[in-house]
Amino acid sequence: MSFAIYFLKNPIFKTAAESSFLFEKSSSRLRVKDIPEGSSKHNLREFGDIFISRTGNEIRSCTTKCQHSGGSLNLIEGSAKAKCARHGWELDLRSMSYVNPVNGPKQPEILVTIDEAECILSKSDEVAVDYQLKTQRELESGEFKFEFWTHACGVITFADKTIITDPWLVGPAFIRGWWLDHQPPTNWLERLIESDFIYISHNHSDHLNSYTLEILRNTLNERRKSEPLFIVPDFQNQSVEVPLRSIGFRNLLMLKFFEWTTLTQDCRVMLLPDTSGRSDSALVVDYKGHLLLNTVDCANPASLNLPSQVDIWLGAFAGGATGYPICWTEQYGISAVKKMLLQNKETGLQRIQEIASACRPKIAVPFAGYFNVSHPFDSEVRDLLQKRSWEDFEDSVRKANPATAIWLPTSGAEIDLGEKFNQNPHAIKHPQNKPISNHNFKKYTDIVDSVAKRFPNTDENVGHYFRWAGFRDSMILNIVEFDDQFENEISNRTIDLQTQTVVQSVPERVRFLRIKVRWSVLRWLYVTGASWEEMAIGFQARFFRVPDTYELHFWDHFQNNLPPTPPIYAAKSSPQV
Ligand code: FES
Repeated sequence: MSFAIYFLKNPIFKTAAESSFLFEKSSSRLRVKDIPEGSSKHNLREFGDIFISRTGNEIRSCTTKCQHSGGSLNLIEGSAKAKCARHGWELDLRSMSYVNPVNGPKQPEILVTIDEAECILSKSDEVAVDYQLKTQRELESGEFKFEFWTHACGVITFADKTIITDPWLVGPAFIRGWWLDHQPPTNWLERLIESDFIYISHNHSDHLNSYTLEILRNTLNERRKSEPLFIVPDFQNQSVEVPLRSIGFRNLLMLKFFEWTTLTQDCRVMLLPDTSGRSDSALVVDYKGHLLLNTVDCANPASLNLPSQVDIWLGAFAGGATGYPICWTEQYGISAVKKMLLQNKETGLQRIQEIASACRPKIAVPFAGYFNVSHPFDSEVRDLLQKRSWEDFEDSVRKANPATAIWLPTSGAEIDLGEKFNQNPHAIKHPQNKPISNHNFKKYTDIVDSVAKRFPNTDENVGHYFRWAGFRDSMILNIVEFDDQFENEISNRTIDLQTQTVVQSVPERVRFLRIKVRWSVLRWLYVTGASWEEMAIGFQARFFRVPDTYELHFWDHFQNNLPPTPPIYAAKSSPQV
């Protein structure tokens, strides 16, 4: 039986299948006299790297993993703070709270008990989730297969059923920022129509892609065919459910985390949460006791408490899915941004290694990273982008498990778990596809422009958008619209987020964020009411802030908590571009 440790302290887990929890305890002991005053870093067998903060007899402790996305926290010399190497979050070790972002979350603490001269560190609230793995049964050739198509999209076949994952098969993602590396099979639409299940891991448009899903919806309507069953994580914010329903899909299988759901007599699936705080999910497919694990973009899938010895692991490898720091060169300068990107590359490799060592796959597939920023107007971003290669992925996986085979997919290539080659410790590789030579950029940028032109561009309507968004704070937002090349300024507005109105002069207020953005992208956001992640991850804006502090609540609101239906504007006016 395989099990994994899980923390009840995190509220997200309270909905998990409690019947499958088992108790587990572990602890470490240190002599109190060996713990120095102030903040110090230690390495303990049971915990790995931890911080201990001591003020006299008050001792607190936590791991060195950042709450944001699992990066490594490092002590800031001469202070009681630690800073994350990835995106700069700062943790005050005396209060165990993040101070950058302002009013940031709490860091989960290790329980500390003082017993005379000893300090006992323990994970006393731990419980374990029992994955209740079944004894493996022999597979026939062709019975359980994975076929790669594009980016995070592939076909999992078990017996005569199929699950298609995250179909992004046409057009761009993130408004006009990302473009596919691989050409999908020519019959992708027919196969999507005939699929039994479609899994949508989260709401980013490289996973929930409206160009692809609208083609599917319209074709099903034309042919009067019933839709596949969508496997959807039951996020509290309904971030996958609402857009699927608005496209017109109704056949949704809403799954809670950590519960097995039977699809056929021999096949069941389980969704796992991303505990880094993002609404993302991972998928486990169990067919006759053989496991496929797709961790998609999860920075911290189930806090790394994964089923061990999976047969095949689909793991994101490339990174780069963030506008920070690449769109912040005005803030930091190009050379500092380059340095930060290199650091991020390294910590991402460490994370791949950690996931690989948790799930110990027989075969690992570099997955969900096959995009490019190839629009000619995005050359500046393209030059800075530091994506990890599949070779980097291979090195990290091998460090964790030298026997894992690496399968480098090409579109249409498949791996058959009924074949015996998965015992082979050597890499199973295919040459990579040639990049798509024609993305038809204009067709899609014209679509963005035509939506943008529907925005009645007045101060009053901009104010209306921010009142619709519903975020109020003592913060000043300066939004400067630019043409597509970021050469000519088109408009410059300042929004006081306390009054949610456009103001004529910049009030004296310390917290200031300037966003330089393509006019069409901004107005597309105003019209569609879409998440600002579409703009930020798609590298469609440039940012500058005073002070240089991450405004967690602002970004969380505009990225994850906008109202589910778009704003309605009072009046139309001719576009002012
Ligand atoms: S700031 Fe730590 S992972 Fe992002």
